[in-house]
Amino acid sequence: MSVTDRCNFRCRYCMPAEGLQWMPKRELLDFEEIARVVGVLVESGIRSLKVTGGEPLVRRDLATLIRMLRDISSQLDISLTTNGYLLADHAEELAAAGLDRVTVSCDSLIRHRFEDLTLRDALTQVMRGLDAAAAHGLEPIKVNTVMMRGRNDDEAVAFAELARRTGYEVRFIEYMPLDAQGEWASDSVVPAAEVVASIAAAFELVPVRHAGAPATVYAFADGSPGTIGVIPSVTNPFCDSCDRLRLTADGQLRACLFALEETDLRGPLRAGAGDDELADLARTCVAGKWAGHRIGSPDFVAPGRSMSMIGG
Ligand code: 5AD
Ligand code: SF4
Repeated sequence: MSVTDRCNFRCRYCMPAEGLQWMPKRELLDFEEIARVVGVLVESGIRSLKVTGGEPLVRRDLATLIRMLRDISSQLDISLTTNGYLLADHAEELAAAGLDRVTVSCDSLIRHRFEDLTLRDALTQVMRGLDAAAAHGLEPIKVNTVMMRGRNDDEAVAFAELARRTGYEVRFIEYMPLDAQGEWASDSVVPAAEVVASIAAAFELVPVRHAGAPATVYAFADGSPGTIGVIPSVTNPFCDSCDRLRLTADGQLRACLFALEETDLRGPLRAGAGDDELADLARTCVAGKWAGHRIGSPDFVAPGRSMSMIGG
């Protein structure tokens, strides 16, 4: 669930240096509307909620929203996917509001490279955010790393060392054609298998069984803490077992990252639709889910929204 399309970073694989045309505020669901939709979805069987953006922590009073979501269900797994820049300031209140855990994006452990990839000199601040998340029990902590050929593809072992040192799950996500600039090319994708092979050459890995998650996860054979995950969205898509549903900040439901069609919930919501009507709309959206994305095939069409407008 995306709570804003705005972001304080400019990751190369996501949006251009000048940013994007942000959605007008009135088009965003307000906290009451979000809670209403989440209530309906939880009632319909959703058990896990990932709060994302853009950068979710640039949405004012996010902890208030987290508290409202927590009040819907004590059972719901609520996580936050963030770039980590504002996390050190907010980890404590987020944990107190009922957030379970965080996933922090980090694409390089080398300061100047981090800046090259995000256009922000922010590695130290992100590391402080991770420390704060750990200090406030927002665990298990995951780190998302998007590898880009020739930019950070030599850092797989360094990230494995980070996992071993901290106990984090570092997850390597293949670069997908969801950047707003349309610069994606298949030769800039670093295949997950290559990442696993280079880490396995340094540390023996053992697969971990992990039902339902898109990541294939490995532990270290020597019993060290931390795990490695790979999300081979391009080279080995997990569409067959994908059980995700996406809600954009402006209240559109998407059955796939790459969906070309959306189900409008905001319109009906603002026109006074009842819970049953909203639940029916969600069910129809899920029923229309494609068998899978078609990245790499000649008929592939990138969706009209790029990553920061969908929420990753
Ligand atoms: N390909 C793969 N992952 C991406 N992300 C953003 N854009 C892309 C892309 N084009 C990742 C971010 C974040 C997660 C939500 O999505 O790094 O960790
Ligand atoms: Fe912001 Fe996330 Fe996009 Fe980076 S990937 S620019 S942190 S929305």
